[in-house]
Amino acid sequence: MEPFHYRDGQLYCEEIPAAELADRFGTPLYVYSQSSFLGTLKALQSAYAEVAPLVCYSVKANSNLGILKVMAAHGSGFDVVSAGELHRVQVAGGDPGKTVFAGVGKTDEEIKAGLEAGVLMFNVESEAELDAIARVAASIGKVAPIALRVNPDVDPKTHRYISTGKKESKFGMDIERALRVAASSVAISSIRMIGMHMHIGSQITTTEPYAGAVAKGVDLIAQLREMGHPIAWYNMGGGYGINYKGHEARPVEEFARVIAPAVKAAGCRLAIEPGRVIAGNAGILLSRVLYTKQSGDKRFLIQDAAMNDLIRPALYESYHRIWPAVLPPGVSPPPDDADVQAPECEPWDVVGPVCESGDFLARDRHLPRLDRGALIATFSAGAYGMVMASNYNTRPRAAEVLVDGTDARLVRRRETFDDLLRPEIF
Ligand code: LLP
Repeated sequence: MEPFHYRDGQLYCEEIPAAELADRFGTPLYVYSQSSFLGTLKALQSAYAEVAPLVCYSVKANSNLGILKVMAAHGSGFDVVSAGELHRVQVAGGDPGKTVFAGVGKTDEEIKAGLEAGVLMFNVESEAELDAIARVAASIGKVAPIALRVNPDVDPKTHRYISTGKKESKFGMDIERALRVAASSVAISSIRMIGMHMHIGSQITTTEPYAGAVAKGVDLIAQLREMGHPIAWYNMGGGYGINYKGHEARPVEEFARVIAPAVKAAGCRLAIEPGRVIAGNAGILLSRVLYTKQSGDKRFLIQDAAMNDLIRPALYESYHRIWPAVLPPGVSPPPDDADVQAPECEPWDVVGPVCESGDFLARDRHLPRLDRGALIATFSAGAYGMVMASNYNTRPRAAEVLVDGTDARLVRRRETFDDLLRPEIF
């Protein structure tokens, strides 16, 4: 069963009506389905079974401790980009030995934290970073396991802000440079190059960009081994897209059919760093309508979630489905394909209370008429939702609830004004 589904005019998360959660925990409220998180983890583990995959869930997508704990208990590894994220993984009981440490700007302190924790490997983004890792490792008598992050120079055909695998990107190194760096690092005794890493972008909906990238990776691994580097891991990064509107993204099995054979041919174990595909459709944001108003021809639905809760529409003009969580009389569940217009709907701008014109969750969205107090759901909000939330306008951040069947667990309470003011000094 779909984790979020309509039954008798009500939106459910697993076995609990959204309306019950909103009454119990208030709004705005992030609601996550545990079975959705674990279902995708399992689907990935089995789709790539032939290359003994280590799924390193990308913590940046949704770093709630309650979620990390459940993922760790089911065998997930983790992809972290900061000492802060590594700390979360450790607090949640995750295994640093199954954790990869990425990021273009690791500080010496972060490198040391990764070494002391015993991370599986560092994804190295530049020659200067390799030198820093080697120096820090030597200074504490350790050998740092590393993977070079390589830009295969493919176009992932995604939003320019989340495209990373092109030559001109700030991430990783192009293949020629990677070869030069690898050649000059053979003799460095405080590093051990055990992997090769690629991450070409995010919300990639087709398999072609990966096909182009893996072919280049297989070649490169052969050359790295010839130099004497014991490459055992092919880390293909994340980026697997999800359905925001309908059925635009290929299922995980299709990506696996392109990636797994190449990794097998290279004689490597596979690591992947999926974030969005695990978390995105495992979460929704629930909010309540405060007011409706009309200005000229424009209709505004003002509700209690804002750009500080979910910034993706404002930042990337991202599309998130929105629909009432309790269907008004005569209104059906949302059409399966968001481009299909439901009857009796009019265009509304769904906006929040923040003082910015960019504060919208949707523009000109065809919705049924909704009154004050109506509960609405913004879908596909589990990834890059709460993690990118802020306290702009001194708004306490939303609460988060993790649903498992008929059980709902508060995994982050709503912030209080005291929480917000505590670090300030006057
Ligand atoms: N690995 C690396 C090195 C990454 O940079 C990222 C995401 C991932 C893995 C996970 O990618 P995913 O599987 O989630 O696509 N805030 C943006 C997305 C930024 C992605 C940054 N890097 C958004 O809301 O769309």
